[in-house]
Amino acid sequence: MVKLHDLHFKPFISEDKIQEVVQRMVNEIAHDLGDEVPVFIGILNGSFMFVSDFVKKYPKACEVTFIKLASYEGLKSTDDIQRLIGLTQDLTARTVVILEDIIDSGKTLAEVHRIFKNENVKELKIATLFYKPEAYKKDFKLHYVGMEIPNKFIVGYGLDYDGLGRDLPAIYQLKTTQHMTNFVLFGPPGAGKGTQAEFLKEKYSLVHISTGDVFRFNIKNETALGMLAKSYMDKGELVPDQVTIDMLNAEVEKNADAKGFIFDGFPRTNAQAEALDKLMDEKDSQINAMIALEVDDEVLVQRLLERGKTSGRADDADESIIRNRIKEYYKKTAILKDYYSAQDKYYGVDGVGSIEDITARLSNVIDSL
Ligand code: IMP
Ligand code: MG
Repeated sequence: MVKLHDLHFKPFISEDKIQEVVQRMVNEIAHDLGDEVPVFIGILNGSFMFVSDFVKKYPKACEVTFIKLASYEGLKSTDDIQRLIGLTQDLTARTVVILEDIIDSGKTLAEVHRIFKNENVKELKIATLFYKPEAYKKDFKLHYVGMEIPNKFIVGYGLDYDGLGRDLPAIYQLKTTQHMTNFVLFGPPGAGKGTQAEFLKEKYSLVHISTGDVFRFNIKNETALGMLAKSYMDKGELVPDQVTIDMLNAEVEKNADAKGFIFDGFPRTNAQAEALDKLMDEKDSQINAMIALEVDDEVLVQRLLERGKTSGRADDADESIIRNRIKEYYKKTAILKDYYSAQDKYYGVDGVGSIEDITARLSNVIDSL
């Protein structure tokens, strides 16, 4: 993912793929032109990388020059094309091949044709690396098209968004923020958080990020972040928030196309909640809700004691330990409840009843986000 100005772009066409397409165009054009020595004309600024790679691959003699036209302001198309640098040589009776990085509406191409109207060239051929058929509004023939692409804004390999991104060696596509549903799921021990997260993840195609699992995964696989976290844990120190956030960031990045995330076990402090907001903001998204399963203490104690009988978990067997864990939970989450309530994002959901009933209650909240 890259961020240029205010927008996010996701990987779209790799360097290798671009080179393959350029090579194919070179082969086709070289074959068609035979022994003709063509003049390749790049349209600046966008075409500089394409032209450079193209002529390096071109197997025979050729000339290269540029004209400079400007048509776009940021993402929006403007009607008048400015001619900044025109033709500087006589092209009478020459075979000219225009090398364009991208043809979108075709306005730039119309200007190119105006430029060549009185040049008496032998032949004028149009070659474009990228072509957006859905956007094209003219009927000039395109002799060579590298790749047809959907009508979405791209950057990289010479193409820019408001000046940035031309230097990227691969092509990135504008990430149109589809609606994401992200929430932090809370619940005291025994509330059925894990069970519900499993159902919700399936139902809404969400990615469940359990901080505990993420930690265990990174440590087990000895990732750089895992080793870093472990170094603190081995000293009996708390893992700094930034390390945890970096791990979560990696998880979010891994699932860039997800419909949303369920955060489980994080945040636990105000600072972490702020860091999570910042992380989501960088992804062009946000935390939509804190959803907390609410279960009466006495019910929790009974559930956990019941679980302790079969699970053999020591911390589920002792009533005073159980009560203490519940107390700790409320002490810790109170701050977060305040944090999200202040943003009108706190939702308490009755966690007593059948699994299906509770899933239905949670779904009501999620559907309303
Ligand atoms: P046209 O004149 O509408 O065909 O657009 C051609 C010019 O618009 C290109 O030379 C680019 O400068 C710009 N352009 C069109 N689509 C894109 C895009 O997706 N990313 C970046 N620039 C674009
Ligand atoms: Mg261009």
